[in-house]
Amino acid sequence: MFKNELNKPIIIVEELTKIYKMDSLELKALSNVSFNVYPGEFVSVMGPSGSGKSTLMNLLGCLDTPTSGRYFLDQQDVSKLKDNTLAAFRNKKIGFVFQNFNLLPKLDAFQNVELPLIYAGVSRAERNEIVKKLLKKVGLEDRIHHRPNQLSGGQTQRVAIARALVNNPSIILADEPTGNLDTHSGEEIMQIFQTLNDEGITIILVTHEHDISLHTKRIIHFRDGQLVGDEKIKNPVRAEDILQDFAKQKEKQELEEIQLSPKK
Ligand SMILES: Nc1ncnc2c1ncn2[C@@H]1O[C@H](COP(=O)(O)OP(=O)(O)O)[C@@H](O)[C@H]1O
Ligand SMILES: [Mg+2]
Repeated sequence: MFKNELNKPIIIVEELTKIYKMDSLELKALSNVSFNVYPGEFVSVMGPSGSGKSTLMNLLGCLDTPTSGRYFLDQQDVSKLKDNTLAAFRNKKIGFVFQNFNLLPKLDAFQNVELPLIYAGVSRAERNEIVKKLLKKVGLEDRIHHRPNQLSGGQTQRVAIARALVNNPSIILADEPTGNLDTHSGEEIMQIFQTLNDEGITIILVTHEHDISLHTKRIIHFRDGQLVGDEKIKNPVRAEDILQDFAKQKEKQELEEIQLSPKK
């Protein structure tokens, strides 16, 4: 029976369509999209700008409702849930990570990660323990009291990932999480996602960078609101390998600089 549970999709999308209506204009952002995602998958969503990727993520994250079609999150038809129950269900199941981090600028790293736990009514002592554990997990234990403007882009995104993890979600939805980052910081973010996925969290990540998508286990392609391709990645690139290569290159460069510099 346990095995059977594992084999049930955590996400089922059936003929999902989203039409945005503005005045007399109708814009079909998603058109009859169907796919499943199983627990433990790491999926990247690719497609040109305007192809419906963010629209899909908003629907998967229950932040918006489809014009037609059905969506089951962990076997639950989310269209059958009322607003309050839906919000609670979403907060329990899903952690969100965005391109522009969406942290509160006046709060430090600790307070940003703590906020959802305050809303959830968790005690101060327990919050302290959870927040410190998560900031350590993303490698920021020495930046606990820095505010977003005192952190690099990569560090800020790591705070956002820690915040996405506070309610112990089974799914992470990330919309272009490396879009504003340099290559090295992007690899660090992908390393964290790969570790989380190794630990069993299902991840769906939007990216327009092919290099980034090759870190995931499956790529679904969108064009003009339609799902036009679904491919398995046999040997995903490991971010830790790339980061090791970067470190080696840097070491080599530094060595060359020392050898080239005139002796005093
Ligand atoms: N809130 C909205 N109201 C009207 N049109 C929208 C809205 N959000 C997105 N769109 C349109 O829907 C299409 C898909 O957008 P989006 O899902 O943001 O694409 P992507 O994330 O792939 O760039 C685009 O043509 C966009 O202009
Ligand atoms: Mg988008």
